[in-house]
Amino acid sequence: MSQPLTATRPTNAATSIFPLRQPPPLCSFLFIIVLIVATFYTLHHPDATPPLLFSNNALTLRRLFLSSASNATISSYLRALTRHPHLAGTKPSLDTLSYVTNHFQSLGLDTHLAEYEALLSYPAHISVAARFSNNTTVEFDLNDGPGDDDVVRPYHAYSPSGSAQGNVVFVNHGEERDYRALELIGVSVRDCVVLARKGESLGRGGIVKIAEAKGALGVLIYAENDGGGFGGIERGTVMRGIGDPVSPGWPGVVGGEKLSLEDDRVARRFPKILSLPLSLRNADIILASLGGARAPVEWRNSGRVGSGQRVGPGQTVVNMTLQGELTMKKVHNVVATIRGSEEPGRYVILGNHRDAWTYGAVDPNSGTSALLDIGRRFSVLLKSGWRPRRTILLCSWDAEEFGMIGSTEWVEENVLNLGESAVAYLNVDCAVQGSGFFAGATPQLDGLLLDALKLVQDPDDVALTVEETFKSQNNIIERLSRVDSDFSGFLHHAGIPSIDMYYGADYPVYHTAFDSYDWMIRNADPLFHRHVAMAGVWGLLGIILADEPVLPFNYISYAEQLQAHRDALSKLLQGKASVDPLSMAIQEFSLVAKEAQDEAKKLKEQAYNKNDVAAAAKRRELNDRMMLGERGFLDSEGIKGKEWFKHLVYGPAAEPESKLGFFPGIADAIATNSSEGMIEHEIWRVARAIQRASRALKGGFT
Ligand SMILES: *[C@@H]1O[C@H](CO)[C@@H](O)[C@H](O)[C@H]1NC(C)=O
Ligand SMILES: *[C@@H]1O[C@H](CO)[C@@H](O)[C@H](O)[C@H]1NC(C)=O
Ligand SMILES: *[C@@H]1O[C@H](CO)[C@@H](O)[C@H](O)[C@H]1NC(C)=O
Ligand SMILES: *[C@@H]1O[C@H](CO)[C@@H](O)[C@H](O)[C@H]1NC(C)=O
Ligand SMILES: *[C@@H]1O[C@H](CO)[C@@H](O)[C@H](O)[C@H]1NC(C)=O
Repeated sequence: MSQPLTATRPTNAATSIFPLRQPPPLCSFLFIIVLIVATFYTLHHPDATPPLLFSNNALTLRRLFLSSASNATISSYLRALTRHPHLAGTKPSLDTLSYVTNHFQSLGLDTHLAEYEALLSYPAHISVAARFSNNTTVEFDLNDGPGDDDVVRPYHAYSPSGSAQGNVVFVNHGEERDYRALELIGVSVRDCVVLARKGESLGRGGIVKIAEAKGALGVLIYAENDGGGFGGIERGTVMRGIGDPVSPGWPGVVGGEKLSLEDDRVARRFPKILSLPLSLRNADIILASLGGARAPVEWRNSGRVGSGQRVGPGQTVVNMTLQGELTMKKVHNVVATIRGSEEPGRYVILGNHRDAWTYGAVDPNSGTSALLDIGRRFSVLLKSGWRPRRTILLCSWDAEEFGMIGSTEWVEENVLNLGESAVAYLNVDCAVQGSGFFAGATPQLDGLLLDALKLVQDPDDVALTVEETFKSQNNIIERLSRVDSDFSGFLHHAGIPSIDMYYGADYPVYHTAFDSYDWMIRNADPLFHRHVAMAGVWGLLGIILADEPVLPFNYISYAEQLQAHRDALSKLLQGKASVDPLSMAIQEFSLVAKEAQDEAKKLKEQAYNKNDVAAAAKRRELNDRMMLGERGFLDSEGIKGKEWFKHLVYGPAAEPESKLGFFPGIADAIATNSSEGMIEHEIWRVARAIQRASRALKGGFT
């Protein structure tokens, strides 16, 4: 099933990674690579003696990795993975499990499964009917596929079962401020069914949570982009928190402790009111029928209210029903291990999920096919004699769509080992959804990420590197406070430096029946060059992090980012609370970061000798401090109201309206109008977290 492996397909490979109209001869191709690497080297190490990274070996290795790229293999993996819909817990998902497992095994990689039992949620029966003022009743069509019975009906996983009937009120994006706007025109949603259009700041779980608090009986959510004009309907989870709901905070191992559904720790993970997704077309029919109050002016100007310009409640009544099935299912993670030769107990982890709402060509199997190709290419390197210094894990997670369940259970089971030995986690979910490179990272990895981008050819412009287009188009490395992919457990719970990457900002067939191989080749990546570029960046990051004798972390970037966060916070607070504790902690962190950087520079400049035990010990000691620096930001009590999330710099604010995107605890305290004392307490907690990070980075004891 997996591709036969040949170490030598250089000509093919050259054309695929450098998609020149006329494939250059091999020698000029290699010359370009050498040139890029050499330029990269001189730019960054003007005065240093070459460390291993830039020694002939490392150069040859990277050249081999880049030249072993192949769009043909990636496309064949994607085609195989997306033949059938493969929702977690269903039979076809087991086919993708064996495809991935067999692939890694056939490459000779040491491969094992990490399996859990988790509570998953499926729809047994759904219906939505509306009765209008003209007394006609419409039963809506709730399918979005070509009627393929293998594709799960559009639904919201973990919505309660039952039915809800009420007058419809349109609530725009369903944010707090939208309800305030409704209040101003005298509209309450109590005992109504609300209709919301998904916006950018609030996820579907947040929309339901607020509607529930406002006394609504049910929620209908539609996406405005209409599945690319196909009439797609967006599936998704509305569970609160992440991971298996019946083993909250501990691994849901087979035969382990599982809470009952009645237990409050489980019950609070689910909404109390019904919700379902709706197509844009059906939402428009309801919108057009609404009577009641005239929509707020801003909503009318946005053009998204119906022709009547009204928001309800009028005479339009919706009756929605959902008969759901909550059931324990096995979830299967695949872990392939490439054992490190010199520091086998230090880990670089590459991860992507495998389960999909439907066919999953973008989400997530564009990433899976890139991961499989990295496996193939790493095995080429292994055959050429490469042994990474540190251990590399290639991980394929299950049940991400239900709430990052596979990766979260794995992180919970391995949290101590990860804490003492994981160097970095590199996540790719939707590798390709469109054009343009996007990335999020913890700040000590910014420089490394940009350096890796310099080594890879831009897939859309042969004259440029990914770094050049990234800088000219986008040039922002996001911070990872989002909770929307598998990096969450690693960063927010275990404090592991992380990167998350994707091509394309957005795509119209998200979570619909139209996320297929066919859509991919027609719309997002016809020749798989973007897949190749992503696999190139991802794999190089893995190689560099695994091989560099001194970890390529830069905590000065982190200190600078923390300073910028403090400034933004101070501006938002307008003197309502003092940020002095933060300022002092960041100042100390900057000094320690500078010392670590100087130390790293010295160690890198030393001539590298594998047998120099004393130098190796020094490097190891510094590397461990740099690895543990990120862990300092963890706090055992976690974020108030979301205690599982332990990282106090990056993590989800419980309050959807918090404005910051970092320091979630402080953001929540501000958003809920907490007292000055409460806000200052949260500021102190972050300051202490930064002090812990300084201490970890500095080493020793006070
Ligand atoms: C709808 O039905 C109600 C009660 O059955 C009736 O009073 C009303 O006139 C009808 N409206 C229309 C537009 O037919
Ligand atoms: C009744 O009203 C609905 C909503 O406005 C409209 O879609 C439908 O065509 C109307 N039916 C008749 C028979 O007028
Ligand atoms: C809503 O629809 C369901 C299923 O069609 C039906 O069983 C239920 O009685 C309806 N509810 C009301 C209040 O009409
Ligand atoms: C791979 O790229 C080459 C060069 O652009 C192209 O001719 C070929 O069709 C691509 N293969 C696939 C499977 O997309
Ligand atoms: C917080 O206070 C502001 C200004 O006094 C007010 O507009 C807002 O509604 C309050 N928010 C909450 C969540 O209480």
